[in-house]
Amino acid sequence: MSQTEEKGTRRDFLFYATGGTAAVGAGAAVWPLINQMNPSADVKALASIRVDISDIEPGTQLTVKWLGKPVFIRRRTEEEIKVARAVDLGSLPDQMSYNANKPDSDASDKNRTLDEAGEWLVMVGICTHLGCVPLAEAGDFNGWFCPCHGSHYDTAGRIRKGPAPKNLPVPTATLTDDLIIKLG
Ligand code: FES
Repeated sequence: MSQTEEKGTRRDFLFYATGGTAAVGAGAAVWPLINQMNPSADVKALASIRVDISDIEPGTQLTVKWLGKPVFIRRRTEEEIKVARAVDLGSLPDQMSYNANKPDSDASDKNRTLDEAGEWLVMVGICTHLGCVPLAEAGDFNGWFCPCHGSHYDTAGRIRKGPAPKNLPVPTATLTDDLIIKLG
């Protein structure tokens, strides 16, 4: 891919991602609408994308589309990190991290985030029950709530209550020093 093509693709993608942020807050039903806004097939096909996260404030989330799926990029607050780290592993319905970057690790909070401090949490935003898009900062654990059948995820994206069988998966991702997340 030439540099010009790469720039154009990234610009289009970030434009789309900005729209996605607002829409996800409005409800799960919005996702199909946003899906139609996806501008080009070449973006869909990208196996690897880079996302500038420097504008994400603590306590907010950017939703981007990667490989046809919504991916939540959340910058957690101190409180969210503290609460997630205080959870006893034995109390979790699902004990696995599903972190592609740490295969076979347990679901403790440190195994779910991209950085040691636990500020950056990246997850595929699809409920592990039947595939709806959960809402952020909602549910009994102030993490994500899936309104379709009532699954509650905590601030580390781990299932805590409801019919979903698994934690939200963490995709292959790396975080650079200049606040770029590379997915894939
Ligand atoms: Fe999320 Fe059923 S699809 S609870």
